[in-house]
Amino acid sequence: MAHQHGGTADLDWSAMLDALARADEIEADVTAQIAGWLLTGPERVIYDVGCGAGGMTAALSAAAPDARLVAVDGEPALLAATRRHTGVETVLADLGTELPIPPASADLIWASGVLHHLPDQQSVVTDLATRLAPGGRLALGEGGLQSRSLPWDLGIGEPGLEIRLDAAHDRWFTRMRRDLGGALPMAYGWSTALRHAGLVDVTARSFLIDLPAPLGPGESEYVIGRLRSLLERDGLEDLVSAEDRDILRRLTDPEDAVHRSVRSDLYLLAARTVYVGRRPDA
Ligand SMILES: C[S@@+](CC[C@H](N)C(=O)[O-])C[C@H]1O[C@@H](n2cnc3c(N)ncnc32)[C@H](O)[C@@H]1O
Repeated sequence: MAHQHGGTADLDWSAMLDALARADEIEADVTAQIAGWLLTGPERVIYDVGCGAGGMTAALSAAAPDARLVAVDGEPALLAATRRHTGVETVLADLGTELPIPPASADLIWASGVLHHLPDQQSVVTDLATRLAPGGRLALGEGGLQSRSLPWDLGIGEPGLEIRLDAAHDRWFTRMRRDLGGALPMAYGWSTALRHAGLVDVTARSFLIDLPAPLGPGESEYVIGRLRSLLERDGLEDLVSAEDRDILRRLTDPEDAVHRSVRSDLYLLAARTVYVGRRPDA
């Protein structure tokens, strides 16, 4: 099934298996809440498109054990991990060029954190909508709020490091999209994208990830790992000042005094937004 969304190989997803799996563990409660909210009972055919390490695949499988659940991704290592811990059917596909879902067949399609990596987001949303059975729903996990984990004043450097890191992330994201071959702008929000795809009853709901300080050891490791992964990001030197990069390095070094002074104040606060639209009944 070839389509003209245009392919993409923007990031090394296999290298992100551990990080995605850790995020799935941390977000398991929220993922279960989202699955519970999305599933209304009669879903028989469900797709998790861009499944990553399979956190939502597992939640959907637990909440709808009798449905046929298919996980789709472009990265074999992530599909293997998803298969290992959920046992569901998996399909390898580059969603930039193909959608391995038969027309008018799915009761629920879930796509989280994947569409913004594809050059023509609207055309994929529109194409996904055609794969819904009448009355079926397309749910997009996109947007929400960036995580917060640090006190505003770290006692070193200028206060507000995380806000500057958010701004850097925003510029990185803009570059990432610009560098996707054939990227088209989508100058409106996901609700409008769902409406443009002919879907009705479009709505959105946000879910809070709220882990207060003090974090447990695994949670702290996760938060520190996320900050550390920022340091490894391509082109960080152009986006974050040398002083802030140095503080970030010290924050993520367990032997450093800055790390030790902040560790018991680390927290995790974030919001995940889910946009949903329904294909009209025939
Ligand atoms: C940020 S992860 C999101 C994973 C998961 N859905 C979640 O919300 O945690 C993006 C996923 O999209 C997949 N992906 C990115 N571009 C893709 C493409 N062109 N075709 C298929 N999968 C793609 C990646 O392999 C990765 O699993």
